[in-house]
Amino acid sequence: MPGLLLRTLRGENCTPRPLWLMRQAGRYLPEYRALRAEKGGFLALVYDSAAAAEITLQPIRRFGFDGAILFSDILIVPYAMGQDLEFLAGEGPRMSPRLVDTALSALHAVPERLDPIYETVRQVKALLPGDKTLLGFAGSPWTVATYMVNGEGSRDQHETRAMAYRDPAAFQAIIDAIVAVTIGYLSGQILAGAEAVQLFDSWAGSLAPAEFERWVIAPNAAIVAALKQRHPGVPVIGFPKGAGEKLPAYAIETGVDTLGLDETIDPLWAARTLPVGLPVQGNLDPLLLLACGGELEKQALRVLDAFADRPHVFNLGHGIGQTTPLEHVEQLLAVVRGWRG
Ligand code: CP3
Repeated sequence: MPGLLLRTLRGENCTPRPLWLMRQAGRYLPEYRALRAEKGGFLALVYDSAAAAEITLQPIRRFGFDGAILFSDILIVPYAMGQDLEFLAGEGPRMSPRLVDTALSALHAVPERLDPIYETVRQVKALLPGDKTLLGFAGSPWTVATYMVNGEGSRDQHETRAMAYRDPAAFQAIIDAIVAVTIGYLSGQILAGAEAVQLFDSWAGSLAPAEFERWVIAPNAAIVAALKQRHPGVPVIGFPKGAGEKLPAYAIETGVDTLGLDETIDPLWAARTLPVGLPVQGNLDPLLLLACGGELEKQALRVLDAFADRPHVFNLGHGIGQTTPLEHVEQLLAVVRGWRG
């Protein structure tokens, strides 16, 4: 029988609630820091499939989460599209050439850069207990485009939003290219053993409504439609961070199976406003895992109670902080595992 997480993503209201945490494989875990120090850097880890599989499994072994998310990064797609990629310590990713000043057609695709990721998925799948769900992922086209255009992260995605207004045809071509690669990439992850996939749209919140329709909803809808055709029955989680009041339109128009909610969304608002029966995922503020104590329990219960009437995957509203104490994760697990509705 499929595990709690996969059943929930398929629309079953399961108790206890399945849980996993965004960025659950990473720097807050001493076993991750040890392996990273040994292998010498983040990209080196991602491209060492045995190490990446081990890191994917570390949080499952330690905490018994219901989902194992592939250890990789959303920027592997632009890397395979031919941009150079580096992660600078303490500063984040750098990509070149930047598409704000170089044409997309100047890039030479290197599709082999995706192959080691599929190998990681195969290795995790072979080792993962059958009641745990293996999650693949990719960035959504808008969020990936913000890095491709600007060459690095930015506070309000200014360069990319400006380019989309200034030259919508060129920007559409970038989005279309990312859509095509992402469909192949997620399909490859599914063929290698991913049982569900998540689309991370971390910067969906920076767009005005008409732009949100064009650059967030339309490309995600195209990816979901293609995946549904190729892999019917494999759930897709959409996580349009910062989408706020645009969430119902996103859910209905993209056709995602489960909607990821960030911590700015009031769970009671979401429970009343989103389509009846639509599975949701989220949305505890990751900062509460630093604070711990009574407030952590109270807020976790508030999220759990709000979504009692629909399928719910417990998660944070975004990635777990790197200074999170492990005991606080244990405390959260006890609250979620103990909840019976
Ligand atoms: O969730 C997981 O545990 C799976 C692995 C995963 C990573 N990145 C590993 C990672 C996933 C799903 C991502 C997604 C990702 N990557 C997003 C979307 C989600 C989000 O957080 O908004 C974005 C925007 C990126 C791009 C990215 N990768 C940035 C901006 C950075 C640098 C900032 C940082 O946190 O260090 C990364 C690096 C990165 N990706 C790390 C990890 C574990 C840190 C690497 C390290 O220094 O060890």
